[in-house]
Amino acid sequence: MSNEIEAIKDPGLPAHVHRKADTDPAAADRAERQVATLFGISALGTILLIVSYVFIPDDVFIFIPVMGDQNAHQLGLGLGMAISLFFIGLGAIHWAKTLMPDTEVVAQRHEFRSPDSDRKEFVAAVKEGASASGLGRRSLIKRSLGAALGLSAMSPLLLLRDLGPLPGNELEKTTWKSGTYLVTDPGNRRIKASDLEVGAVAQVLPEIADPEHRKLSDIAKDAVLLIRLRPQEFNLEPEKLAMTHDGIIAFSKICSHMGCAVALYEQQTKHLLCPCHQSTFDVTRAAKVIFGPAARPLPQLDITIDGEGYLVARKPFSEPVGPSFWERNSQ
Ligand code: FES
Repeated sequence: MSNEIEAIKDPGLPAHVHRKADTDPAAADRAERQVATLFGISALGTILLIVSYVFIPDDVFIFIPVMGDQNAHQLGLGLGMAISLFFIGLGAIHWAKTLMPDTEVVAQRHEFRSPDSDRKEFVAAVKEGASASGLGRRSLIKRSLGAALGLSAMSPLLLLRDLGPLPGNELEKTTWKSGTYLVTDPGNRRIKASDLEVGAVAQVLPEIADPEHRKLSDIAKDAVLLIRLRPQEFNLEPEKLAMTHDGIIAFSKICSHMGCAVALYEQQTKHLLCPCHQSTFDVTRAAKVIFGPAARPLPQLDITIDGEGYLVARKPFSEPVGPSFWERNSQ
């Protein structure tokens, strides 16, 4: 018995199996139509995205089983974008697998940097492959791919719409009106003056007909803090004092520096603090800024009670809430 180890024979390449579309023109045409269909679905996805962006208001909700109430605007944007990108990818893969050249190439190992001649050959092969992919001949694919890619590439242009129109005085308005009830947040219950003890603080929102679908952009402007002091603890101008009710004072919760929620109340000092940049507001002096970068006091909401003792706004805010912006005199 010989001790020599037998060399393993080179098994070679398995026999090349041609795809159906390589040998059957009808199968190739069918594959072409399938690719075009996938690109067409992608184009429909982009159209859905555009229609959702332009025509569906951002406060419309639809009920979807399992998922519950969903914002139709956001759903349309998400679905449209997903369909557009997914089907472009699927179409490209199907095209490559069924119609692009299917040749097997054997490359010998050699040093990492290819010789110049190989590099030139590579460039030539890429060019040849590009022309062999049949874009020139397969006009249906060319047109459908062009439409899908063109629409997809144009969709970011929609964002330009957000550059206008200018907001006008929209930023100066909140939902608060004369006679709007104050409701707890969370809970959405009307609140009586007697519900608040001295030293208490509560976050409230304006009562609206459909609180389940309150817009986030409204909450960002409407949030109000109610604080109850002893009436003699106030150090207010008569005009500001008249806006309180029996020791209860209401301020916008949105910081006048950069719009964070003024979320911390020091009961002992009667200071409100913004956690973002430490602006500090003195509640006894109509939220006057006593520390930090905020340039103006928190706007005060004029409140009173109705015949049953529930707190209501006597007027809307008399100045814009939130951070200063270019149209506002922030002094
Ligand atoms: S956002 Fe409140 S201090 Fe800056």
